[in-house]
Amino acid sequence: MMSQEKHEFFESMGHLGLTYGDVRTVPGPMDPPAPDMPWQEFFEQPPLPAPDISSHLTKDIVLSVPLISAAMDRVTEAKMAIAMAKLGGLGVIHYVMGVEEQKEAARKVKVNLNGVIEEPVSFRPDRTVRSVLEEKARRDDVDYWTFLVTDDENRLTGLLTERDFRFAKCDLDQLISNIMTPLEDITSAPAGTVPEDAYAFMARHKKTMLPLVDRDGRVAGLYILSDVERLLEGNPENYSLDKAGSLLTAIAVPSSRRAIERIEACRKYIDIVVIDSAHGDSSYAFKTYEMIREIAPELQIISPNISSHVSARMWAQRGVDAIKVGQGGGSICTTRVETGIGIPQITAVYQCAAQAEKYDVPIIADGGVSKNGDLAVVTAAGAHTVMLGNMLAGTEEAPGKDEWVDGRRIKEYRGMGSDAVFSEREEAVLRYSSDPSKKPIPEGVSGYVPYKGSVARVVSDMVKGLQQGLRYCGKRTLVEHRASTQLIMGTGNALNEARPHDLL
Ligand code: XMP
Repeated sequence: MMSQEKHEFFESMGHLGLTYGDVRTVPGPMDPPAPDMPWQEFFEQPPLPAPDISSHLTKDIVLSVPLISAAMDRVTEAKMAIAMAKLGGLGVIHYVMGVEEQKEAARKVKVNLNGVIEEPVSFRPDRTVRSVLEEKARRDDVDYWTFLVTDDENRLTGLLTERDFRFAKCDLDQLISNIMTPLEDITSAPAGTVPEDAYAFMARHKKTMLPLVDRDGRVAGLYILSDVERLLEGNPENYSLDKAGSLLTAIAVPSSRRAIERIEACRKYIDIVVIDSAHGDSSYAFKTYEMIREIAPELQIISPNISSHVSARMWAQRGVDAIKVGQGGGSICTTRVETGIGIPQITAVYQCAAQAEKYDVPIIADGGVSKNGDLAVVTAAGAHTVMLGNMLAGTEEAPGKDEWVDGRRIKEYRGMGSDAVFSEREEAVLRYSSDPSKKPIPEGVSGYVPYKGSVARVVSDMVKGLQQGLRYCGKRTLVEHRASTQLIMGTGNALNEARPHDLL
C-alpha cells in the first residue's frame, strides 16, 4: 500500500478503527541536518536548532513541550504540576480530594515561581538540620534549597543554602543556627525593591539571592537570581508561564454543579480548567461548561473526554478552548470491556481533529500512549498535545510511595474509575453516578508500574523521541508535522518488525 496524505489515508480506511501500533509516520528528506551530526564535513552553515515542538494547548495558550500529566490521583498533584510546567508542559491537578486540598495544590503551583517571593519558606534558628531536611522531604512544593531563618517576630536572623546543608550532613542534630549565614554577613535590600534594582544589586554583590527587609528587619520578600533573570530575560528555560511570570496552573473539576465551588475556591490560582468526565458528550457537561464560562470568563476551558467526530463538532461549536479525545483507551481503563463502546484512539483523534480544526480548536489526545514513538504518530494524526497517565506514573513526582516487591521498585497506578479509588473517595463515585451510595460498575483497574526516577528524565526522552521523529519526517515544526506528515498502516508483522527481534 502506498503511503498517503492524512485525509486520504483515513478516508480510505472507511469504518476501520486504528490505534497506536497500527499506524506509522512516513519518513521524508531531512534538510538541514540535525545539530548533533557532523555537519561541518559537508556544510558551511551550522544546522537549524532542534525541531520546534511547541503547540497550542488551548486557543490562547501555547506549550513549548506538548505534554500534559493526567488528572489522576497517582499522577498529578502539586509536585508533578510544578515539574511539568517547568519542563514546558502542564499538569492537571485531579479533583478526587477536598476543595480546600485542591485549592492548596493549585496555590503551591501558582506561587512556586515569583518575581519576588512574598512569603519565603523560613525556619526558626533552634530547629535541627534533621528536622528541616525531613520537612523539606515531606512538602511537595519545596523543590529548592534556599531558606530564611527568622525569629518569632519574623525578623531575619540568617540564611540557609544548599551548600550549608551539604556540609552539615556529618551532624544532623546540630541547630541550623550553627550552619546558617548569620545576619551580619547577609546582603539584604529594602522592602519594595523592584526586579531591575534587585538584579543590579545582586550583580554588584555577586549574590544569587536577595532577602528584602522592612525598617524593623522583618522579612518582606526574597528574590532568587534565576527568577529575576527569567523576568528580565523573557523565560529562557521555556517554562510554561502565565502573563505575570508564574507557572501555568490547571485543575480538573467534576462535570456537575459541584464544579463551581472548586472554581470559586481556586480561581485566583488557576489559568485552565478541565471538565473531567469519561462521557463528555452529555447535557451535564454542556451545562457545567456554560456555568464555568459565565462565572469565570477569564479561564481557558478544556472539554471532557469524547471520541466521535459528532461530539467534537458539538464542543467546537460551543466555543470550548480545547477538546480532549480518548474514551477507554487508557492503560488502566476497562470502559470498553464493560460497555462495548470505543473508537480506537488514532482514528478518534483524526476524526475529532478534522472537525475541530474548522473552528480552530486544539485537540488533546488522552490515554493509550505507551512508547515515545506514539507521540509522533498521534500528533501527525491531528493531536496538538498529548495527555499521559501511565508514562508519568511511577516517577518521583507522582503522588504515592514507591515500594520494593520481588526485587523490583514499583509505584501504584490506578484508574479513577477503579474499585480502589471508589472505595477511598466519594468524589470518584460521583464521577460516574449521581448517588454516592450506589456504587457504579468500575471502568478502571489498579496496578503497579515500575519506579521511573525523575519526571525530567522521562519527559526529556519523550521530547528527544518526538524531535527525532519530526526529523525523520523532514519537518521543522510540530505544526508542519501535523499538517503534512504522511501515514501508513502496518500489519501485526510490521509491529513485530518494529520491535527488537530474533535475539537470544
Ligand atoms: P494512560 O494510557 O496514559 O491513560 O494511562 C490515562 C487516561 O486514562 C483515563 N482514565 C480512565 N479511563 N477508566 C477509564 O476508562 C478509568 O478508571 C480511568 N482513569 C483514567 C483518563 O482519561 C487518563 O488521562
